[in-house]
Formats: sequence, structure tokens, C-alpha cells
Amino acid sequence: MKILITGGAGFIGSHVVRLFVNKYPNYQIYNLDILTYAGNLQNLKDIEDKGNYTFLRGDITDKAYLEHMFADYKFDAIIHLAAESHVDRSISGPMAFVQTNVIGTVNLLEACRCAWGGDYYGKLFYHVSTDEVYGSLGEEGLFTESTAYDPRSPYSASKAASDHFVRAWFHTYGLPVKLSNCSNNYGPNHFPEKLIPLAIHSIKSGKPVPVYGKGENVRDWLYVEDHARAIDVIFHRGRVGDTYNVGGVNEWRNIDLIELLCDVMDERLGRENGTSRKLITFVKDRAGHDARYAIDSSKLMQGLGWEPSVTFEQGLRKTVDWYLQNEQWLENVTSGAYQQYYSEQYSTR
Ligand code: NAD
Ligand code: TYD
Repeated sequence: MKILITGGAGFIGSHVVRLFVNKYPNYQIYNLDILTYAGNLQNLKDIEDKGNYTFLRGDITDKAYLEHMFADYKFDAIIHLAAESHVDRSISGPMAFVQTNVIGTVNLLEACRCAWGGDYYGKLFYHVSTDEVYGSLGEEGLFTESTAYDPRSPYSASKAASDHFVRAWFHTYGLPVKLSNCSNNYGPNHFPEKLIPLAIHSIKSGKPVPVYGKGENVRDWLYVEDHARAIDVIFHRGRVGDTYNVGGVNEWRNIDLIELLCDVMDERLGRENGTSRKLITFVKDRAGHDARYAIDSSKLMQGLGWEPSVTFEQGLRKTVDWYLQNEQWLENVTSGAYQQYYSEQYSTR
């Protein structure tokens, strides 16, 4: 089987590529990525020489390029992760999200439809999406697969649109598709613009740890390797045409999470307990900040037997240790353009 994984140099994509390359030596894995600021081939150093792995640098917004790729490589399946993924960037520059997340996804759907020519036997389009498409919860309740879409940010609106297009290609053209909507991921190789790696970076360097608003917003956190395992299970055993929610049953208020992270960092850095908490700084809230995400994954857990393999305390310690042992990675990604992003994003808060 020839599988095209898009966005494989990014955070989640790199864990999915590694899992598939190592676990399925008989599959040919093609990683198509344009290498934006979030894409980094260093994430895949350990598998780049494997015989069943090929990197293709390309842009999913380029329709003609995709048609050539599909004609040349004759992919059997696609796992689509390439996206613009950061809510704050979608607020300051929404058009890139429309281009990549909406137009890019439609280009890929069309490339599959044209290349497969209606012969869909053994073919699959797997679309990786987010729980943010469901909007914002109050104090009670969970997102299920039948929760009505209610996206609030340019990011979640662009992902919601892409989900709708994927389902439209299933219903209209019979394209075999699967979708999953996952909660917030954390773990190694996470770009330090998102909450957990940004806080680790700040705590390590003794800089303020910015918490938006009162820190009362709630997210449901899943260790990234568990998301990659869920994608493997759904890819192989999920029902065509179906959607699966993926989550960690692990809700945290941002402030509680950051306090725990400060304590773990103190422990790992040999600092006196309480030192890092002093860095916590409440800053201006994000516009349209979704209050709470929480996901019901019982369809995936009971139907396909998946469950998270690590607790949050274990996953957070593994994550902190990875960042402390990979200082060069952090230094590389926080040099250059990152500095400008950081000062623009946080100087006015
Ligand atoms: P990321 O930003 O770390 O990586 C995205 C990757 O896509 C990068 O390698 C980037 O270079 C690539 N890319 C961007 N534009 C491209 C283009 N035009 N052509 C080709 N490649 C392009 O994102 P992530 O956090 O790994 O998220 C991956 C997917 O999972 C996204 O679709 C996201 O919506 C979804 N998701 C993320 C989370 C999360 O917590 N991070 C949760 C649920 C779902
Ligand atoms: P983030 O990691 O950007 O993921 P998402 O917005 O997709 O959930 O943010 C997680 C939560 O942390 C969210 O409620 C916003 C908040 N946050 C901060 O408080 N400070 C920060 O510097 C960042 C980046 C996020």
C-alpha cells in the first residue's frame, strides 16, 4: 500500500509518519509537506533513511502539483494532516487558513477523485480534524460525533469547512472517507506557540508565562502518540463514511495545568518548589476565546478498542523531559522568525 501523509513534518504528522514507517515496513509512506514555520524535518531524523519512507516537498494549495504527484506515485490512501493549526495566528491572518485548510483540502479531494477515476476499491481518504469545529461548551456536557458544528475562530471555521467538503465528496462522488476530530494534543515536537511548549520554553528561560484572561478556560489534553495510535486504529478498522471523536478524558483549566507544569519544571530543573509559579502572568484574553472543550470518545473506545496509554502526569513528565533533553531543537525553532511572532503576539497583551 502506498500512503500519502500530508503535513508529516509537523507536530502530530511526524508522530503519525514515524508510527506507520516503523510499524508497517510493507507500506510505502510518502510525507508531503511544504515546510512552513511549523514543519521541521528534524522531527523525523530517526526514520529519514528507512527504505519505506519518502519526503516530498510540496504545497497542497497547488492543484496542478497534486495532480502530477498522484499520477506519478499512484497513492492508494491519504492521511491528511497538513493545515495551518494555531488559533492566534488565524485571528491575526485568517486568509492562510482558508487557503490551506479549505482550498488545500478540496484540492486533495479532487486529486484523489481524478486519480482513482471512480474505482475506489482499496482506496481511502482519511481526514484529521479537531474538536474545535463543535464550538464552545458550558460547564456541562461533552462533544459527541452528532454535536452540531458551531465553529467560532477562523481556524475552527476553516477546519469545519474542510470536514464538510470531505463528507460532501463521500455523499456526492462516493469517495471512501473517514474523519476523526481530536482534542488538544501535547508532547514532543510541539511548536512553542501553543500553550504547553510555550510555557515550558518560558519557564526554562525564566520568562513570564502568559495565561489568557483568568486562566479558567478548559481543554481536554491527549498525549500525541496516543492520537497517532488512534489514527492507526481508525485508518485500519474504522468504518468508511464514519467520524470518530478522539480525546483523553482529561480536562484541565489552563491555570491548573500551568501550575502543575510549573511544579514539574521545578522538580526537573532542581528549583525550589514554587519558583516557577511566580512567572505566571495573566494577560489580555484571546478574542472569542472558547470556554471549554471536552470530548466523548466512547465510539472509538468501545467500537474499536482504543484508549489512551499514558496518564496526564506521565505524559507531561515525558514531554518536559523531551524538551529539556532537546535544547537544540527548541533553539532552532525559536530563532529567526519566531522572535518576531513572539513579540507581535505578546507585546500588546
Ligand atoms: P502543525 O502546525 O504542527 O503542522 C502542520 C504541518 O502542515 C506543518 O508541517 C506544515 O509545514 C504543513 N503544511 C502547512 N501548510 C501546508 C501546505 N499548504 N502544503 C503542505 N503542507 C503544509 O499542526 P499539528 O498540530 O500537527 O496538526 C496537524 C493536524 O491535526 C491539523 O489538521 C490540525 O487541524 C489537526 N489537529 C491538531 C490538534 C492539536 O492539538 N495540535 C488537535 C486536533 C486536530
Ligand atoms: P492553544 O495551545 O493555542 O490551543 P487551542 O487554542 O487550540 O485550544 O491554547 C490552549 C489554551 O491555552 C487556550 O485556552 C488558550 C490558552 N493560552 C494561554 O492562556 N496562553 C498562551 O500563551 C497560549 C498560546 C494559549
